Amino acid sequence: MFLYVLGLVALWFVFRWFKETKRVSNKEDKYVYITGCDSGFGNLLARHLDKLGFPVIAACFTEKGEDELKKISSERLTTTHLDVTDSTSVSKTAALIKTLVGEKGLWAVVNNAGVALPTAPTDWLNIEDYKSMLAVNLCGVIDVTLSVLPLIKKTKGRVVNVSSVFGRITTIGGPYCVSKYGVESFNDSLRLNMAPFGVKVACIEPGIFKTNMTDSVMLKKYVNKLWDRLPQDLKDDYGYMFVEQTFANMDVMSKHILDGDLMKVVGSMEHAISAVHPRTRYSPGWDTKFLWLPLSYMPTFISDKFLLKNYPKLKMSIQ
Ligand SMILES: NC(=O)c1ccc[n+]([C@@H]2O[C@H](COP(=O)([O-])OP(=O)(O)OC[C@H]3O[C@@H](n4cnc5c(N)ncnc54)[C@H](OP(=O)(O)O)[C@@H]3O)[C@@H](O)[C@H]2O)c1
Repeated sequence: MFLYVLGLVALWFVFRWFKETKRVSNKEDKYVYITGCDSGFGNLLARHLDKLGFPVIAACFTEKGEDELKKISSERLTTTHLDVTDSTSVSKTAALIKTLVGEKGLWAVVNNAGVALPTAPTDWLNIEDYKSMLAVNLCGVIDVTLSVLPLIKKTKGRVVNVSSVFGRITTIGGPYCVSKYGVESFNDSLRLNMAPFGVKVACIEPGIFKTNMTDSVMLKKYVNKLWDRLPQDLKDDYGYMFVEQTFANMDVMSKHILDGDLMKVVGSMEHAISAVHPRTRYSPGWDTKFLWLPLSYMPTFISDKFLLKNYPKLKMSIQ
């Protein structure tokens, strides 16, 4: 009986693998619009799709990002400036894309642009900290998607939303998880609403990867900046030892968890764009598969116990 079940499972995996290897044809006519191409996953995806022959519209936040990407890519790749928090900039980019793609329509948009700061315990932050991150990570995703959705409906194309495994489990304070849970929800409603139009919507939920966003030097500098602005009563509650332990945890993360192979994420993005049968969710990274996702399915008292066990100690709790 056991062997019979094992055989069926193996057969299912072979079937799925075979189904997922099929790729769409006429790549050279399939325009792909990617946000946040200055660095990290967005930059690597733009270069990767360019090499594969897709006409890429790479939106960069900075002029420097645009210039550097242009230098190393083919004539097929178009760069443009985009600030996803600015609706005028989003509309201008959509108008440029409309001119570029013409009657063909747009094949895919990849909502990749994002920020991870400020991240800190909830009571260290104010509402402006929340608003600034939600403006990029959530409202930016919604605005960009809506601006090009009519062009994607034309091709029965793809929307790829870059969330995070921290859109499935909350491990840190501040707006990052809040924003990514929002992306998950937007992604799911869009997937259902677009199904009748033949538009496929996929969500990428990476674990922790080595990009500018996870650079521990920059993160530590930012935590110190937040510490400096705290009122004295909060400083007394937490104590600077809390910050030092947070930094020690970051060092452990950098050494043991950070994954340097960005192609795991970029490969998932590429599959969502180019496979005939894309998945609805991708979870690149061993930490996602073997730690965060299983933890997200546990009863809350177990996941809380695990997360609090590794949480830095507060000065007030050891006095
Ligand atoms: N790295 C990870 O461990 C990880 C894990 C899960 C999910 N993610 C998600 O993956 C996506 C890409 O992040 P990454 O790790 O590749 O980090 P990254 O290298 O910092 O890339 C983020 C990109 O977004 C751009 N950006 C920032 N604010 C913007 C704005 N207002 N408008 C347009 N673009 C803006 C950045 O431009 P500048 O470089 O010029 O600031 C940068 O090009 C993000 O959505 C992130 O949340 C990352």
